[in-house]
This record gives sequence, structure tokens and C-alpha cells, in this order.
Amino acid sequence: MRDAKIHASGVTQETAASARGELFSEERSAEVVAASFEDTPPPRLRQLLTSLVRHLHAFVKDVELTEQEWAVAINFLTRTGQMCTDVRQEFILLSDVLGVSMLVETINHRTGGTSTESTVLGPFHMVDSPKRELGDNINLDAKGTPCLVAGQVTGPDGEPLAGAVVDVWQANEDGFYDVQQPDIQPPGNLRGLFIADAAGRFWFRSVVPRYYPIPDDGPVGQLLAATGRHPNRPAHLHFIVTAPGYRPVTTHVFVADSTYLDSDAVFGVKESLVRDVPEVDDPARATEVGLANPFRALTFDLTLLRADQAPPAAQPAEVQPTVVRGAPS
Ligand SMILES: [Fe+2]
Repeated sequence: MRDAKIHASGVTQETAASARGELFSEERSAEVVAASFEDTPPPRLRQLLTSLVRHLHAFVKDVELTEQEWAVAINFLTRTGQMCTDVRQEFILLSDVLGVSMLVETINHRTGGTSTESTVLGPFHMVDSPKRELGDNINLDAKGTPCLVAGQVTGPDGEPLAGAVVDVWQANEDGFYDVQQPDIQPPGNLRGLFIADAAGRFWFRSVVPRYYPIPDDGPVGQLLAATGRHPNRPAHLHFIVTAPGYRPVTTHVFVADSTYLDSDAVFGVKESLVRDVPEVDDPARATEVGLANPFRALTFDLTLLRADQAPPAAQPAEVQPTVVRGAPS
């Protein structure tokens, strides 16, 4: 152990040097604790823990955290953990409302403005979405405002991606996914796996989704209430689009006139993903597409990066926790 007084002298060289063996002090707390991780074998894990300690200590010093506030925080995190089940992941929900989920998503899926932007996956995706034919109506219970959804999948040079797989899922007009209402909605309602045609085009019939709240009956909901925030997400359709040789995209398209578009509880909205969904009052066109007149129409074209041109993503962590997604995003 070295003499702590030496390091408390404030010599620049000492500050930059390791604090291994140095006694804990308010001034040098971050350096002392960070030094305890210096021998962590995986360099990435060492980097993660060292940075985490430095930011945590900076936060505590910035706000001069009281013991009571520390206890409240511990209690909050404890209750957050206790809220988690196989189908409810309150920690992911916390990450979502703090914007961390979207930040991680954005960092790891940079597009450089050359392809469709991504957003969070959310918890309601089915691994095996029901296969549909182009033009199918995925609104199995015939409720809601009919909507024709169409688009084209292309590569970065505009080349059509024939056979691209377009996986879609959405909430209904009441803001619920089928899995949330197993006794009300038919299984597979408002979901579909489509194969784009030779021109990379896809189209199907559906309904206009409604905004919906993330689960707010737990600690995260209490946090939102205590801070005057609402729990809602604006209306959207989820997409996962894949094509061989191209980088997949997981994203949403947002309905432009939806409530909460400018205050998504999980910060998932990106300007490039918002689309008008105008009403079409044209009986002949309605008959042609097999919808009641009038109906609404949503066009969402997607551009995928080639796999070999994908921009560099953030360095992946060597230690990644296994989690079950269970909180809406
Ligand atoms: Fe959603």
C-alpha cells in the first residue's frame, strides 16, 4: 500500500497513475475503486467497470447524494427486480424510460443516413410469425379503421430486393397486441410474415393502430407518475426486414397524426420513421384492394445496407447478461 497522503497532494502524474493500494477518500474515490478492477482479465469488462465506477462516483458527488436518497434508490431497484417475471422485465422497462435502450440500439445500428433507421424491438414479436400472402388482411377480427400498407425493399443503390422477408406486427385500434388479449383477439391477429415480390414490393391489409401505454403498474410506472411523465407510446407498426447479403433492420413506422408522437415514453421515435396515413375515399380503389371505403393508406419503403458495407458498430461487450424481454418498447 502506498501512502494516501502522497496521492492526495494533487500531483498530476499521481492522478493519472494507478490508485492501487491507495486508501479511500472522497476526492479520489473513483480512482481508488476503479483501480480494484485493474486486474480484470477481459479488457472490455475492465473498461466497462472502470467507466461505470467513474460515472457513478461523479453522479454521487454532483448531487451530493444523501443517505436517505441512497436508501430510496436501493429500495426502488429492489422493487424493480422483484417486479420481474418470465413475462415482465421491469429492468428493461426502466432502461427504456431512461432512454438507455434507444441509445444502445442507435449506437449499435448506425446507418449514416444511407438506410432505414432502426428502433427498439419491443416484447411482442413472435419468433414464428404467421406466413401470409401479399395482399392478405391481417386484421382477423375485422375491427378498426381499415388500412392498406405497402412498400418496397431496396438496397443502398436502389436495387429491388426480390424475396425480402417482411415481418410485421402491430397493436389494434384499442392499443393492444393479440398476446395481451388472448380471450379477445384471434391468435396471430395483426401479424404477418410476407415475402416481397420480384420488385421488392410488399402490401397487405390491416387497421390503423392506436397508441398504447407501457406497463405502468410497477416501480417504473411510479417513477413516471412522480415525474409527471405519461406512459404512452405513439401509434406504430413494427417491422423486421431481412434479405440475404444485406444487413437486417428492426424498426417501426409511426403514424404521423398519432397522439404522443413527440413524447414517446421510450424515446423510440425517429423523424425518418414517421409517415402520413391519409384517408382514401375512392370506392373503385377500395373494391380493388378489398377494403371498405373510405380506408387509409400507409406507404413505407425500406432501404437495407449491404452486409459488407455496414458501418462499424460499437465494440460488443465480452460479458453480456442474458435477459428475457418482457416490457413494451
Ligand atoms: Fe409496439
